Amino acid sequence: MRTILVTGATRGLGLALVRALDAHDDVALVLSVRDLEAGRAIAKTLRRAEAVAIDTGSLASIRAFTSRWDRPLHALVNNAGLQITDGDSFTDERIETTLAVNHLGPLALALGLLPHVRGGSVVGIGSGTHNPDNQAARRFGFRGGKFTSLEALARGETDGTNDQARGRNRYATSKLLTTVTAIELARRTTIARFATFDPGLMPGTGLARTAPWYARAVWSSVLGWVAPLMDDTSTPERSARSLVKLLIEGPVMSGQTYGHDGAISHRLWKGAHDPELGKRIVDESLAALSSHRHHTRALSPSRRRMRRAC
Ligand SMILES: NC(=O)c1ccc[n+]([C@@H]2O[C@H](COP(=O)([O-])OP(=O)(O)OC[C@H]3O[C@@H](n4cnc5c(N)ncnc54)[C@H](OP(=O)(O)O)[C@@H]3O)[C@@H](O)[C@H]2O)c1
Repeated sequence: MRTILVTGATRGLGLALVRALDAHDDVALVLSVRDLEAGRAIAKTLRRAEAVAIDTGSLASIRAFTSRWDRPLHALVNNAGLQITDGDSFTDERIETTLAVNHLGPLALALGLLPHVRGGSVVGIGSGTHNPDNQAARRFGFRGGKFTSLEALARGETDGTNDQARGRNRYATSKLLTTVTAIELARRTTIARFATFDPGLMPGTGLARTAPWYARAVWSSVLGWVAPLMDDTSTPERSARSLVKLLIEGPVMSGQTYGHDGAISHRLWKGAHDPELGKRIVDESLAALSSHRHHTRALSPSRRRMRRAC
């Protein structure tokens, strides 16, 4: 049995992926969801699936899960993700939410589960929006990802004259971080294979849920009709099929970025292989995770009680 953990399995690409994986007799699924009831309801419709609660925007939630997990994994698919275009948002741990959910949380989950994914794959979900040279993404208002510093991004600093532009910039940057992190981790370790899958534009998913009503309407109807005429568009089901093939038949090659058809992506930004950028992004991300751990440990109830007792 190959156990595959998929985050964000309640809808969109994640739901299509677990449905497609369930067709394989030797696959057992772990659906990571933030709404456990919803996850359990989906698990019941599958043959060999269980639901677990993880909020990928909460490092505490991730730690609570990884400290309990004790089974080998064939793959971890860090699919959960969001785009916030209706204003600034921060997690309870005071990290800008897009960065927390799309990059820092998935990295913490991958590192926490690494001993269990030994010899297996960790696949992050990227996006063509990370690439500043992607003209199609530019037409939708994406200017590409920009890494300033992890601290600045965690404080929510970005450019953009309105909420929508700021949200798109943060999203594209989070996907740049996802992609470059996989490339850099592939340089640093062979314990597991780290790769990115770019599913292409998949109109109609929940990704646009914070967009204004007219943009949501375009996303869930008009774009669905126009999409087949455009390059690099897909559907959750079609992209899920390519990802299943990669996960089951492989080989997932460490450090690679795959496109929605399962081939090596032609949408990867040429700067993504810069080792200096990879080093900065991963070093600063690890430092952020570690400082967060110290911070929460210092404020954990037992410590607080101890401090009061002193
Ligand atoms: N749609 C596209 O065109 C497109 C293109 C490129 C890349 N992608 C990427 O594909 C992935 C899937 O997106 P989608 O389009 O399928 O969007 P979606 O329909 O909104 O699905 C996103 C999933 O992530 C989960 N999620 C969001 N925040 C979470 C959190 N804090 N903790 C746990 N789970 C969380 C959602 O759970 P809930 O149901 O609880 O909200 C949902 O299951 C994302 O990484 C996205 O960036 C999408």
